[in-house]
Order: sequence, then C-alpha cells, then structure tokens
Amino acid sequence: MSAKSKGKILVVGGAGYIGSHAVKELNRQGYETVTFDNLVYGHRDAVKWGAFEEGDMANEARLRELFSSHEIAAVMHFAAYAYVGESVTDPEKYYFNNVAATLNLLKVMRAFGVDKFIFSSTCATYGEPQVVPIPENHPQNPINPYGMSKLMVEKILADYGRAYKLKSIAFRYFNAAGADPEGEIGERHDPETHLIPLVMEAILGGRKLKIFGDDYATEDGTCVRDYIHVVDLARAHILGLEKLLAGGESAVYNLGNGNGYSVKQIIETTEKVTGRKVPYDVAPRREGDPAALIGSAGKAVSELGWKPEFADIERIVETAWNWHGSRVESKV
Ligand code: UFG
Repeated sequence: MSAKSKGKILVVGGAGYIGSHAVKELNRQGYETVTFDNLVYGHRDAVKWGAFEEGDMANEARLRELFSSHEIAAVMHFAAYAYVGESVTDPEKYYFNNVAATLNLLKVMRAFGVDKFIFSSTCATYGEPQVVPIPENHPQNPINPYGMSKLMVEKILADYGRAYKLKSIAFRYFNAAGADPEGEIGERHDPETHLIPLVMEAILGGRKLKIFGDDYATEDGTCVRDYIHVVDLARAHILGLEKLLAGGESAVYNLGNGNGYSVKQIIETTEKVTGRKVPYDVAPRREGDPAALIGSAGKAVSELGWKPEFADIERIVETAWNWHGSRVESKV
C-alpha cells in the first residue's frame, strides 16, 4: 500500500517532459508511482522514481495486464502527441493517439473500478482568444487538430462523469517551460519546436533562432505567451489528485502565471541570465500562432490552493539554462 494513497498513481506518459516532473514530485511527496510510456517521445532515463512499465495505451490487452499487476488509486494522463503543425498535416495520428487511445485507457480504468483521472489539456483548446487573460469559461474553438483532440477528451470526460461517475480534473496548460531545479530532468523534445529550448540551442550550438514574426499587434511586435514552470504544473497535478482522493468533484483549471512575455523579452531574459548573446533572425509568422495567449489561473489558486513558486521568468529561464547548459557541457 502506498504511503499517501491506497494504491499507486499511474502516470501515463511519465517518461515525457511534464510527466517526468510529475513523477518526481509525486515520489517526493510520498506517493508510489507506476509510469507507463511507449517511449516514442519519452526517455527511459527520465523515469528515475517508482516503477516503470513500457507499453502503449492503444494496446488494450497490455493495459489490462498493467492494471492487473498494480493496484491503481488514480491515473494521471500526460501521453499525447503535441506538435501543432504536425497535427494539421497528419490529423489521423493525433485523433488516434490523443483521443482513441485515451478511450482505451478510460475503458480499462472503468473495468478495474478506477474512477479518478487527471488530464493534461491545453490553452490550445480556446483557439483565438476573445479576451486576455483567458478564463476557463472562455469559448473553446480550437484552430488545429491538436487542440481539438484535447477538447474532445475534455468533452468525453464530462460525459463519462455524468454516466459512469468518473471524477476528472483537466488542466489547461499555457506554455510549459523550465526544468527540475535540481537538474535531474528537463525538456528534451526531438524535434524541438519550443521557444526557450531553441533559444538555449541558439546560444550553445551557434544555430540562429528564428523569430516567427515581428509584426504582431503587441508592444514589440513579437508573440506574447504565458510561461509556466514545469514543477509548478506538476504540483498543481498533485493538488488536483488530492482533491479527487478526498472525494472532490470534477473540474477544469487553467495553469499559467497570468503574465505575458514576448519572444524578444524571452531573448533578453536569456541574455541576462546566461551573460551570452542570442543569435537570431526575424522570419515570417508561423501559421496558427495567436498574437497573445495569457491565462487567468485564479480558479486553481482559490480552489486548489495552488501557488506557483517559479512565477519569475528569470527563474524559469535559469532552470532551463541549468539543464541545457549542463547537458551540452557533459557531451564535450
Ligand atoms: N517561436 C519563435 N521561434 C521559434 C519557436 C517559437 O519565434 O523557433 C515563438 C512562437 O511563434 C510563439 C512562441 O515563440 O509565439 C512560443 O512558441 P512555442 O512553440 O514554444 O509554444 P506555443 O505558444 O506554440 O505553444 C502551443 C500552445 C500550447 C501547446 C503547444 C504544443 O500554446 O498550448 O503549442 O507544443 F501545448
């Protein structure tokens, strides 16, 4: 029996960027975990805590075996494809993995009587914002299949809640960033598309960063995003888990800092933190990028008692730099 819950916390996608930070935090707080990951994008060496089982959610028999061999108290689900551009060119991949395979997971949970589910959703479910900061009750009109796949799962969770009494919490993340402050895990996507790691790569590898557009209707013309530290995301998941374990009701929450930073401000912050110049060029806009995405996370603060610890953008960039810099240095 786990110290904190009757049964383990199953972390699906726990070898990925956000999932691995959740696994670390769960273990630090005394939960027993089992990570389930197909290692398509995840890294086996990112799972340094708790049990690990390799497998795919699309394989129902494998899921049944997993649930038979571990007593599961609740499930955290991080396993999704998350390349917005690819979701436009290959929507099948996104609807099969992010929606159909999730249905498998929910089916097997139901078969084994597991009724608590924490889901990684996204601000991409809102589409073009009509108001900023974006509250949870903002209309959801995703503009790409990635956002649509996440919205579909949110809707499925609401229906399963009504019909099968599934209790779920969906967290709509803004821009996940930063790394474990102890440097044990961090962001490792292949290919990398996210701004902060690419800024680090530009410094370390000499390859110029491309700023996607400087003609937006923002203060300096570059896109504004709400960067939220990955450890703060992980902690919010545990607060959500605690709510469900205590018998709380299903809910959705935004997770962001409520502060927007432009691409140029991220570059300036990184130059300040690292003391190095970021080489860059201005390129055309990337399709589907809204000018500004900023979240209102007051609901998670008031209902869950969530308090982001790394709200300062310099701290976020510092932890990312600590991770990227040490990885490059260890290779040379
Ligand atoms: N950017 C650049 N150059 C780059 C990469 C990014 O200028 O080489 C800009 C983007 O145009 C954007 C900002 O930096 O304005 C952040 O871009 P990211 O790709 O890091 O993140 P996104 O804002 O595109 O994140 C979106 C959604 C998330 C979703 C994520 C999926 O906001 O909800 O894509 O990867 F989860």
